[in-house]
Amino acid sequence: MTQISAAHTPAQEQAAQSSSKTSGASLYGGVTTRRVTVRDLAAAKERGEKWPMLTAYDAMTASVFDEAGIPVLLVGDSAGNCHLGYETTVPVTLDEIAVLSAAVVRGTKRALVIGDLPFGSYQEGPVQALRSATRLVKEAGVGAVKLEGGERSLPQTELLVSAGIPVMSHLGLTPQSVNTMGYRVQGRGDEDAHRLLRDAKAAQDAGAFGVVLELVPEELAVEVSRSLHIPTIGIGAGAGCDAQVLVWTDMMGLTSGKVPRFVKQYAELRSVMGDAAREFASDVRGATFPAPEHAFH
Ligand code: KIV
Repeated sequence: MTQISAAHTPAQEQAAQSSSKTSGASLYGGVTTRRVTVRDLAAAKERGEKWPMLTAYDAMTASVFDEAGIPVLLVGDSAGNCHLGYETTVPVTLDEIAVLSAAVVRGTKRALVIGDLPFGSYQEGPVQALRSATRLVKEAGVGAVKLEGGERSLPQTELLVSAGIPVMSHLGLTPQSVNTMGYRVQGRGDEDAHRLLRDAKAAQDAGAFGVVLELVPEELAVEVSRSLHIPTIGIGAGAGCDAQVLVWTDMMGLTSGKVPRFVKQYAELRSVMGDAAREFASDVRGATFPAPEHAFH
């Protein structure tokens, strides 16, 4: 059976091999010299194996996550507010996602890189979606694309899949619709819950390989995850999904201001970087940097 690993150094390789011997096949505990594919994610769902996904917007950060064994990286349109300085994801352009996606692909050896189709790049219809997705696949080298919406994006999903482009669907809170939807939990109440379940099944029937569930009640996410044979990827959807995704700047403590309650902060990068910048400034002002060992003669 194919086994997949993030291992790049001999020590990591050995650790990965011994872990795969004890735990069986694993999306990121085995050995591979190739990229993760959507077929690996389908196999992980069959094994009942959970997997992590992070966003990434540049080559260097992506290489860190790739080496750390994150099997799937999303070049999300969250780049708008987390990388490009916009207020929301709405202004992000296909050109921007193409540049960032190409960098993430260059920075990784093993992760499946998914390019997000930004607002305005697929809503006109299937042909526009195919043109946009083809650009991300050909120019940036992504292995899959993501688009928002279930039933409303079915013709787009069907055409992309039939053209050989794997599609991840995004349901629940869909930030590209912030102007009509706002930022609030979706799928509350019977009617909304049934609509979301219908959307998820429609996306699966149209050929999507996975469904992001953003900001939905945990009970509903469990029901959707049990009803689908493709993986669900939760963000603010509780523990019952097949995979979990977080925006990297949120989980690393780089985002300024308040982060959503569903985010677990694993590091404090904003204060680490701020302290380092202040120390550098103080060294320069006090003429203690550069020191003799930093100079050439
Ligand atoms: O753009 C993004 O980062 C996303 C994730 C939150 C799933 O869509």
